[in-house]
Amino acid sequence: MKKEQQNNQASHPWHLLEHGFQAEEYRLNATLFSLGNGFIGLRGAFEEGFDPEPFSDGCYLNGVYASEPIRYGEAAYGYARNNQRMLTVPDAKAIHIWIDGERFNLAEGELLEYQRHLDMASATLERTLTWRSPRGKTIAFKMQRLVSQTEKHLLVLNLEITPVDFDGEIRLQSWIDGGFAQAERSDDPRLASPIDQQDIQWRDNSADGAYLALPLQVKSSGFSIRCAALHHIEDSSDVELSNLRSEDCVAAEYRIKARRNQLIRLTKYVAYFAEQHADPIETKALRHYLERCAGKCFADHARLQREQMDRFWRESDIQVSGNHRLQQGIRFNLFHLFQSLGRDGRTNIAAKGLSGDGYDGHYFWDTEIYILPFFLYTQPDLARGLLEYRHSILDSARARARELAIKKGALFPWRTIGGEECSAYYPAGTAQFHINADIAYAVRHYSQVTGDSDFLRDKGAEVVIEGARLWMEIGHYNSRRNNQFCINEVTGPDEYTALVDNNFYTNLMARAHLEYAAEVYQWLQSFDPAACQGLAQRIQLSPEEPQNWAKAAAAMYLPYDQSLGIHPQDDGFLNKPVWDFEDTPKDHYPLLLHYHPLVIYRHQVCKQADVVLGLLLQSSAFSVEQKRRDFNFYEPLTTHDSTLSACIHSIIASEVGYREKALGYFQQVARMDLDNHHNNTQHGIHTACMGGTWMCMVQGFAGMRLQDDTMHFSPHVPRGMDGYQFRLRFRGRTLALDVKRDSASYTLVEGKAISLLHGNKPIALQAPGKTLTFEITQVAEVSQ
Ligand code: BGC
Repeated sequence: MKKEQQNNQASHPWHLLEHGFQAEEYRLNATLFSLGNGFIGLRGAFEEGFDPEPFSDGCYLNGVYASEPIRYGEAAYGYARNNQRMLTVPDAKAIHIWIDGERFNLAEGELLEYQRHLDMASATLERTLTWRSPRGKTIAFKMQRLVSQTEKHLLVLNLEITPVDFDGEIRLQSWIDGGFAQAERSDDPRLASPIDQQDIQWRDNSADGAYLALPLQVKSSGFSIRCAALHHIEDSSDVELSNLRSEDCVAAEYRIKARRNQLIRLTKYVAYFAEQHADPIETKALRHYLERCAGKCFADHARLQREQMDRFWRESDIQVSGNHRLQQGIRFNLFHLFQSLGRDGRTNIAAKGLSGDGYDGHYFWDTEIYILPFFLYTQPDLARGLLEYRHSILDSARARARELAIKKGALFPWRTIGGEECSAYYPAGTAQFHINADIAYAVRHYSQVTGDSDFLRDKGAEVVIEGARLWMEIGHYNSRRNNQFCINEVTGPDEYTALVDNNFYTNLMARAHLEYAAEVYQWLQSFDPAACQGLAQRIQLSPEEPQNWAKAAAAMYLPYDQSLGIHPQDDGFLNKPVWDFEDTPKDHYPLLLHYHPLVIYRHQVCKQADVVLGLLLQSSAFSVEQKRRDFNFYEPLTTHDSTLSACIHSIIASEVGYREKALGYFQQVARMDLDNHHNNTQHGIHTACMGGTWMCMVQGFAGMRLQDDTMHFSPHVPRGMDGYQFRLRFRGRTLALDVKRDSASYTLVEGKAISLLHGNKPIALQAPGKTLTFEITQVAEVSQ
């Protein structure tokens, strides 16, 4: 049976549907049906509970973590000391239900009807079901929820219950439950670690009729968290309300004399606030906040939510005609990116978003290279927030650099939440120095697309310059390589090859970083001499440093093998034997779960795009023929065991004319989580791959590249679609593309005139409303 059918997801372009409850997919669906607003993330677990095993079915707050010492069997100097783990905060969605003494639970009784439905147009979730209890009482439920897109701190749950064939007592226990669910213990490095209950200090809670509050303190990280709930029950005659309370749980209990066919409606307004080393909100203000929110019913909140989401989709949607499966996958991915994104300049976007605690909720380079482009070209202000976050952790990055004997500048953490390096395995963590260059690449990209010089002056320049200083310290002019600038002992993006000399990707990106840092310094000197001087003083920048960066960039060594005509991934890569793919059983992938790293490291085998990614990010430095040769060489060696890989292969395949391949990769990328291709979506979505989906459409099929501040397009429509449409923001303008099998239309929706390139043809859109249409001739598939 195909996975899609197993998941029981019909491919509706705007909805995700579960028809008929599938107990075995409960955890997977808890991820897929999760909701978030960039601050609160709520998994799609049931209000009444279901999962008997300890598994985090929780709620998360972006940026809120517990800190714990990393315990090494054998430690060494400079190893990362602490892990910052995204915290599962008290569960406030829990509502336990009894029907004349029988507890409602889908593991028992008979389910007569069931449907769950995520509406991506309005960011609301709805579950309707009819259930017969073991003693034969039939009852209909409708459960709705939303995590507000207009109120950062709010989530709203709406519960409707109708007895179908009886009069009797319905008991609703609505909880804020701090008895944190434990994460699974496992050898899988991608999973979260369990929670230390001793780290939580409970404060005075309150349970005052319909109002509940459960404050807590995380000792290790200094976070104060306030969680509160206010209930509203309609038609409150025949209702008795009481409270339950323990140290880490509070509840409101409603006993209702229910009548056949009479609807009971309970709305639960939940607020989460959190602040580090400060009180996030006063007790009274918290209650007032919820009273204000409860002034609107669920339908009112849903209306506001819809308006907000309409704005998001207007700016950010990609419409695909003629393919519902891909359309659903694309929308699902863009939707989850929006739900996961920290919007305050102090938080970022985790590898699993706010949909699960895989990777402990850490932020990686995924943000700058895979996720940022989507926001940058659709909602640039949100992209700016992601880069502001990097500026906010500069002090930690400087401290980390000193720990690695880097005397000047900063080393950004490979994985973190609050800024401290959390990678316990340095060969595939700290050694990925390329993160500095990835961040600088994103700052440059942001500046090119927005022209936002204030950001560059106030924050961007410091991030770029401090980051660039690292290369001068870890690299050197190598007399044995003709005095070219070499960088030793690093790990590139491909985590199946570690601690190598002259990783092609790292050197290529470091070259661009150093060039850009020198350019930014010069720009700042003329744009705002006082700001430049201030920065130079603050970071003790000597006048010759920028010259040294330019010199090192010009002398950067990039491995190249003349006989093969390709870029070796690093100095030693070609000396290794090729991995024995033929004798590797299918169930031994991903390799990282079946082979010791040393076995993997001594072979030619790639977990993910490395050289191939470099060809995309520094596209104009390489000819199409070169890209084709490199792609041909690396593709058979790449397992795509990371979900960050297939999207990049799709884009380069598009560019070099392997259209079928490009589509094949894209089909997987677009539905990575919906079809659970990597079998781990139960632990959370894959946000980088979701960003990669947007990149495949815009940079792959539409062929968009930015070169010398001009946008180039070379669009085509892959087989299986009739066409596609999307909008892009560029320097204050909005541009719309409409690509069909035989034509491509460019419209300037708003903003000043703009010049573009369609293929090699320069075109100019002079005024808003102007559309230019060009014929596309379908290029024949290039054979590999
Ligand atoms: C990939 C990394 C990525 C991380 C988080 C790993 O599997 O190899 O490149 O940053 O996942 O998504």
